[in-house]
Formats: sequence, structure tokens, C-alpha cells
Amino acid sequence: MNKISAAITAVGSYVPDHVLTNQMLEDMVDTNDEWITTRTGIKERRILKDPNKGTSYLGIQAAKNLIEKNNINPEEIDLIIFATATPDMLVASTGAYTASEIGAVNAFSYDLQAACSSFLYAMSTAASYIETGRYKKVLVIGADKMSSIIDYTDRATCIIFGDGAGAVLFEPNQEGLGLQDEYLRSDGIGRNFLKIEAGGSLLPPSEETVANRQHFVHQDGKNVFKYAVSNMADVSAKIMERNNLSDSDVNWLVAHQANKRIIDATAKRMGVPEEKVLMNIQRYGNTTSATLPLLLSDFENKLKKGDNLVFASFGGGFTWGSIYLKWAYNS
Ligand code: UT7
Repeated sequence: MNKISAAITAVGSYVPDHVLTNQMLEDMVDTNDEWITTRTGIKERRILKDPNKGTSYLGIQAAKNLIEKNNINPEEIDLIIFATATPDMLVASTGAYTASEIGAVNAFSYDLQAACSSFLYAMSTAASYIETGRYKKVLVIGADKMSSIIDYTDRATCIIFGDGAGAVLFEPNQEGLGLQDEYLRSDGIGRNFLKIEAGGSLLPPSEETVANRQHFVHQDGKNVFKYAVSNMADVSAKIMERNNLSDSDVNWLVAHQANKRIIDATAKRMGVPEEKVLMNIQRYGNTTSATLPLLLSDFENKLKKGDNLVFASFGGGFTWGSIYLKWAYNS
């Protein structure tokens, strides 16, 4: 019997309706469309305005989109991994709630948090469950309501992030398609540069932490940029080298959408031309755990069975890595 590999067999996505443009941000903080566009590549992002809805809402819509588009019976799903940096609540699993809401009554479910690399790491985790032969249908959801942790008076962060969700289904494949290799890294130095200081066990919430705006994302952009550029390019080049992939063997670069300049630098290092780089940062900004599945969903009809995809991400922690995956279907 051929070795079992873990293939993506379906994708889905959801973004909220409300659009926050660069022009609207000009009225909120001291910034301008030209600066945001040239420094980041972002033109607009989506925001979940309803104060009574959390990240689970985004993830549930993305999962339902996948299920309905592909006629999947949710009762057959074995496991749901919910990749997010903005769970609905601490302690109570967002994944467990999501599983119940979509009718995945036979699944177990949990959250996986690795900042902007949450989805990439979750792909690795999901693939491992499939490769062992223990589970047949693993749903990975990447969703973040970044607007819930962004300070809209801080121009260094509020121009970057947006809300959104994507979902992919992993299933066993015996044709050699699916996840081929991964190279995942982390370095704790990152917590000095990108963090929410309060609300965790180190600095529990207090009147003081709220007054000091310590429940919002703080980023030393310049330093994060420096680490992101070199590390994302390094791991992508490494995965190509390890798998004897030349630039012409790579069909698509699927990179975390944090900054167009970081993605361009990664593509350049790999020798991959612009037309093979999936990009939607201009429309959504950085949606953290949702960037990779949103790319797959937006560009699903371009992906062909057998295509070589190189995924790359970099995020808080620091956490980063690259995955080489062979696409398994034509849509
Ligand atoms: O997904 C998780 C990982 N995160 C990332 O990968 C993000 C990495 N970092 C970045 O993408 C970039 O560092 C930013 C987009 C956040 C910032 O771009 P930058 O080119 O690194 O700008 P900077 O922070 O060095 O700031 C340059 C100038 C500064 O002014 P001075 O000191 O040169 O006078 C800033 O005060 O731009 C100013 N500035 C702004 N100006 C207009 C900073 N933010 C803004 C703004 N609008 N929104």
C-alpha cells in the first residue's frame, strides 16, 4: 500500500462586509494612503462591526462556506483545529464551540495559538494526524478578529490589521499529493517586539493596565520587519533546497500577508516571479491566522492538481516556517 499523505481537498472563507479604507484611516490617525500603500501594500481591510460577535463567528462562516460548497457532511469530521490569536474567550475553547455550531458532533476540537504562524503550524499538526492513519477528515480553521485587540489611535498598528477567516479540509491521499515537507522554527526573543502585554498570567488585567492601553497589540515594526524579511526568506529557500525544487518547479508562493515588501523579498530570494505569488493583502491587510487560507480560497480556481505550493509565514513569538505541499484537485 502507498504511503498516506495529507492533502487539502476543500477550502472555504469568510470576510465581514464592513470595509475600512486607507482614506477612512486618514480621518482617524495621522497617516495617509500613499504612506500605507508604499510601506505595506494595503489599501483596505474588513472589520467585524457587530460587538456581540467574536472570532468564532468568522470561523463558523468560513467552515459553513467550505461545507456547503463541497457538500460535506459535518458529522464525518473527526477533528477541528481552530488556529487563532484572538479566541472568543480565555480558557473556553473557540474550536469546541465552533464544532457544535457547524454540526460536527463527532469531532473533537481545540485552539492552536502561534500568532501569525498559527495556521501554518496547524497545517503541520493536521497533516500529522492524517499521516498516522488515525483520522480521515481534519478541518483547519484560521480566523482572527484583530479589530478586537487593535488600538485605533495607534497609527503604527491600526493601519495593518483586519478581520477574516478561512478553512481547509485535510484528507488522506495515496497518490503522493498533499504535504511533502515542513521546516518550522521559533525564537522567544520575539516577545520583546510584538505583544499584548496585559491580560495574560504575567500581567493580569487591572484598572492600571486598561488605563495604560496594555490590552492592545504593540509592535516594534522596524525590528519585526528585519527578522521577518530574513527568516521568511531563509526557510522558504531551505525548503526548496531540501526538496530539490528549482524556481521553475515552484508554481505558487503562498505567503503570510503582513507586508508586501516582506513577501516580495521572500519571492526574490526564491527566484519566484511576481505572477506566481498569491497576493490579496491590498484587500484584507494582515488577518493573522486567516491570511493563508484566504489566499487559497481567493485563488482556488488557479490552483491545479499536482502544482507545487510553498507556504511561508512569520509572526509573533517569534514563530515562522515554510511548508511544501502538492495541490490535490482541480476546482
Ligand atoms: O504579521 C506579524 C508580523 N508583523 C510584520 O511582519 C510587520 C513587520 N513590520 C512592518 O511591516 C513595518 O515595519 C511597518 C509597516 C509596521 C512600518 O513600516 P516601516 O517602513 O518599518 O516604518 P517605520 O516604523 O520605520 O517608520 C518610518 C516613519 C517614522 O517616521 P520618522 O521617525 O522617520 O519621522 C514613523 O513615525 O514613518 C512613520 N510612520 C507613519 N507615517 C504615516 C509610522 N507609521 C505611520 C503611519 N502613517 N501609519
